[in-house]
Amino acid sequence: MRGEYCMKICVNPIGFVMRDDQNVRDREAVAKIVLDKSLTGASDGLDDFSHLFIIFWMHKVSDEGRDQVYTHPWGRTDLPKVGVYATRTRNRRNPIGLTLVRLVKKQGNLLLVRGLDAFDGTPVLDIKPYDMWDRSLDASVPGWWHQK
Ligand SMILES: C[S@@+](CC[C@H](N)C(=O)[O-])C[C@H]1O[C@@H](n2cnc3c(N)ncnc32)[C@H](O)[C@@H]1O
Repeated sequence: MRGEYCMKICVNPIGFVMRDDQNVRDREAVAKIVLDKSLTGASDGLDDFSHLFIIFWMHKVSDEGRDQVYTHPWGRTDLPKVGVYATRTRNRRNPIGLTLVRLVKKQGNLLLVRGLDAFDGTPVLDIKPYDMWDRSLDASVPGWWHQK
């Protein structure tokens, strides 16, 4: 589809992830998000929420990754292939990441968040407070998910 029809959307990062550690899979690790100074004030009131959705652009995904259609969940060949949209893989046409994090601290344009699985330098596209709208008490997942 990329060759036949091209809709270009220009997004401006609102900030960047900064972290010293490389262990982005550690849900307890704390990372920094440095928001652009031009957006001073846009995060006022955010610290009244415990949790935030962070939406980011996984800028290190390769072109081949962006063309991927099927994948083994978590790269595990013992699990059956499914469509990429049935997984959270980073390899997708638009490598947008969405992660629910705990807000640890806000200091002006600096947010300290726990549980962000984004590399150092990742552009942040948006931040939304987590509220009851996104809570589901009857969610279910496929059988393979329990083999994680
Ligand atoms: C599987 S993706 C999922 C991201 C998000 N939790 C989601 O569900 O959309 C997270 C993984 O992508 C990789 N990753 C993080 N930041 C990245 C970046 N900027 N570019 C490419 N890969 C990245 C890391 O290996 C991380 O564990």
